Amino acid sequence: MSQTDSLNLQPVNRGDASSPLVLLGVTGCIAAYKSCEILRGLQKAGVRVKVVMTKNACEFVGPTTFRALTHEPVAIDTFGDGPGDPIHHVSLAEECDLFLIAPCTANVLAKMAAGIADDLLSTTALACTAPIAVAPAMNVHMYEAVATQSNMRTLAARGVHFIEPGEGYLACGDVGRGRLADPADIVSYALEMLKSERDLAGKRIVVTAGPTVEPIDAVRFISNPSTGKMGFAIAEAAARRGAQVTLVTGPVSLDDVAGAQMVRVGTACEMKAAVDEAFPSADIAIFSAAVSDFRPRVACDRKLKKGADDEALAHIDLVENPDILASCGASKRAGQVVVGFAAETNDVTGNARSKLVRKGADFIVANDVSCGRGFGADSDETSFVSASGEEHLPEMGKRQLADRILDKALEFLK
Ligand SMILES: Cc1cc2nc3c(=O)[nH]c(=O)nc-3n(C[C@H](O)[C@H](O)[C@H](O)COP(=O)(O)O)c2cc1C
Repeated sequence: MSQTDSLNLQPVNRGDASSPLVLLGVTGCIAAYKSCEILRGLQKAGVRVKVVMTKNACEFVGPTTFRALTHEPVAIDTFGDGPGDPIHHVSLAEECDLFLIAPCTANVLAKMAAGIADDLLSTTALACTAPIAVAPAMNVHMYEAVATQSNMRTLAARGVHFIEPGEGYLACGDVGRGRLADPADIVSYALEMLKSERDLAGKRIVVTAGPTVEPIDAVRFISNPSTGKMGFAIAEAAARRGAQVTLVTGPVSLDDVAGAQMVRVGTACEMKAAVDEAFPSADIAIFSAAVSDFRPRVACDRKLKKGADDEALAHIDLVENPDILASCGASKRAGQVVVGFAAETNDVTGNARSKLVRKGADFIVANDVSCGRGFGADSDETSFVSASGEEHLPEMGKRQLADRILDKALEFLK
C-alpha cells in the first residue's frame, strides 16, 4: 500500500511544467497535518506544488507524506544537496509563483520580520521575490503577543499577505484566535492570488486613515480612538496589487506603507487639502478615516489654564468641518469610484444606506462598532451597502477585508 492509499486520497492532477507552481512551506505547528489538505486542494485546482519544511515541522508530519503527495523531493536541509543539485533556497525561491507558508509558526514570522535565514525555509523566504502568503497558527497568547503582532505588521507593510487565523478551541486547550484558517479558505486565497496578483496595476488609489485631531489649545484636542489599521491595510493591499497609492492619514502609530505615497496630516482641514490634491487623478478613493465632524472655532496657541480660562474651557464654540467624503462624492467624474465607511452602533445598514445617498458614494462599508468592535480591533464584521443592495461579510481580519473592499471597488470600476 502506498502512502497515498494509506491516506485514503483519490488521485489528483499534480499539474505540469506549464502549471503555476506553489511552494508550500510547512512549519512546526500542531496544525501541520492540515498542510496535506491544503496541498491536495491546490493540486485539485491544477496547481503544481513543491514542499519546503522546517526540521521542527518533521516532528509533526513526515516528509514522506508530502513526497508521496507531490511526487517531488521535499526540501528541508540547506546543505543537503548532492553534487550538481540546484542550490535549493535559490532555485525554490526563483521558480515558484507563490510561496505559501501554511501553517506558519510565531518563530518563522519573527525570523521573516527580522530577515533571519538560518534554515532552508527562512532562507528561501528571504530570497523569494514571488508573492508570499502566510497562514499563522498558534496559541492565542502567542498570537496576541506584542512581538507577534508587530512582526505581522512589519511583514504586511512589506507586502506579505496574511490569511488570518480564526477563533475557537485551540489544540492547547485555550480558546481564542490562533487557529489555522480553514484549509479550503487558504486554498481559495492562494488561487485568488495566483489569478489576481497585480490586478490594480495602472490604477491610482487614494485612501484616508486614522482619526483627525482638532486643537482646543496647545495641549488639548478633540479626536477619536481610530487606530488607522483599516486604512493602512487597504493601502498595503492596494500597493501589493500594483496600484499607485496615496495614503492620507491622521496621527497614528503605524509605520509608513512601503510603496505608498504617505501624507501625514493632523486636522480635518489638512486632510481635506491633501485629498483635494490627490482625488482628481484617482480611479478609486476609499475614505476610512474617522474625521471629526466639528472643530473648535478658535484654537488657542497657549495652554488654557484652569481658573483663569474656565469660561473658554467650559464653553468650546464648535464649527462644522468640511465633509471630505461628500465633497468627493459630489464632484466625482464618470469612472471614479468612491467608497465610504459607516461606523455605527445601531441600525447599522439603515444608517449606511442613508449615508450612501447623502454622500454620493458608490458603496459604504458598514461596520457595527457596538460591543467593543471596530476601533482598534483586528477583525470586523461588515456589510457592503450599495444602490443594488447589501452584501453581508462574515467576520474577518482587516487585511482580508481590505482585499474584499478592493475587489468590490474593482467591480464598480469595470
Ligand atoms: C505539541 C506542540 C505544538 C506546537 N504548536 C505550535 C503552533 O501551533 N504554533 C507555533 O507557532 N508554535 C508551535 N509550537 C512551538 C514550535 O514548534 C516551536 O516554536 C518551534 O521552534 C518552531 O519551529 P519552526 O518555526 O522552525 O518550525 C508547538 C510545539 C509543540 C511541542
